[in-house]
Amino acid sequence: MRTNSDEDNGFWEPEDLAFHRRSRGGHHLGPLGATMRFAGRVEPLPARKPAMSERRVELPPVDEAAVAERDPPFQKVLENRRSRRSGSGRGLTAARLGEFLYRTAHVQESSQSGPVEIQRRPYPAGGALHELEFYVIISRAQDLGAGLYHYQPAEHALYALPATPEQWGELTESARLATRSSTAPDALITLAARIGRIAWKYEGMAYRTILLDAGAVLQTMYLVAAAMDLSPCAVGNGDSVLFAMAAGVSELDEPAVAEFALWV
Ligand SMILES: Cc1cc2nc3c(=O)[nH]c(=O)nc-3n(C[C@H](O)[C@H](O)[C@H](O)COP(=O)(O)O)c2cc1C
Repeated sequence: MRTNSDEDNGFWEPEDLAFHRRSRGGHHLGPLGATMRFAGRVEPLPARKPAMSERRVELPPVDEAAVAERDPPFQKVLENRRSRRSGSGRGLTAARLGEFLYRTAHVQESSQSGPVEIQRRPYPAGGALHELEFYVIISRAQDLGAGLYHYQPAEHALYALPATPEQWGELTESARLATRSSTAPDALITLAARIGRIAWKYEGMAYRTILLDAGAVLQTMYLVAAAMDLSPCAVGNGDSVLFAMAAGVSELDEPAVAEFALWV
């Protein structure tokens, strides 16, 4: 095994170091990469998560030509992208939220890669697996009820989940505290990963890929928000157990890995 310096610099926490070294080449000879170790034993999860409730809310369709006409030039969007922690008071609407979600995450194309269904979306994803699910807590909106929803990108629809106001209120309050904002975000987006989709293909690097994918989504959300003149801020931490309880998912099947706050 190659080594360079193994001298402890004191900065590493043991779990971080173990995760780093196991999920990269150079420190072990274990399997690392697309080993497809579940092939023939477990069916890969479908690209599209089945509907999570019967309370479906269709979002207004997005006119891509009108959006392209109205958008600022890309260089302006890039340069003007900033974290902002309060809105202008225009208020969230189904049209604004729908445009934001569609531009970030809609499914452009679905196809088969062997036994696995893959997708193309505006943001990149390791293996085109798109294991990240989008959940939205709406705190206040003009024409949408407050609560926790799952976004179904292939349908451009929200599905209302039976989270209690206490549960989703605590999640948005912790985003408010983390961003030191005076008001809870109008919408709080949580990314949760269907680990089975990615672990089916990748070994030694499944969780690492999920976190990298989440970073790609965060930047895409930032840029879309900048183009739409919304106020976005990534949130560095969240409560995965509370989220799993609120969404009615298992924390091991679908861990929440990133949060993103939006004010309008
Ligand atoms: C992964 C990540 C986590 C972040 N977490 C927080 C957070 O918890 N609270 C907060 O106020 N800002 C958070 N931010 C925003 C950063 O503070 C911000 O990006 C940084 O100060 C640079 O400012 P800018 O985004 O306006 O360029 C986060 C940003 C990223 C990318």
